[in-house]
Amino acid sequence: MYGGTYGMFRKDLPAFGIEVTYLESNEVSSVIAAVKPNTRLIWLETCSNPFLNILDVEEVAKAVKALGQDGVILGVDNTFLTPYILVSRRLHVKKEPCFIDGRSI
Ligand SMILES: Cc1ncc(COP(=O)(O)O)c(C=O)c1O
Repeated sequence: MYGGTYGMFRKDLPAFGIEVTYLESNEVSSVIAAVKPNTRLIWLETCSNPFLNILDVEEVAKAVKALGQDGVILGVDNTFLTPYILVSRRLHVKKEPCFIDGRSI
């Protein structure tokens, strides 16, 4: 997980009483098994930073939908990869990744 995200999940969210569960696995079944009744957000990186693990986002999205648990948002950070491969159908927060605008080159 990207350090900035990790810092927010590790320090800021708990300060607001928000519990965070971390997964090492990139198996869809593990993601679904970790969903709790109070889960409101599942956060993924399409290509994880720094290990470059790939998760099948479409399969996760289908499995989350199949749970039928209202109020669970699937958030996908696609910073590492080209926006060409992933466009959200619901809410797309678009920002040119640092690899496109040149800040990390
Ligand atoms: C997975 C991930 N998310 C977010 C960021 C932050 O991207 P930016 O610096 O473009 O805001 C990075 C940067 O490396 C990243 O790898």
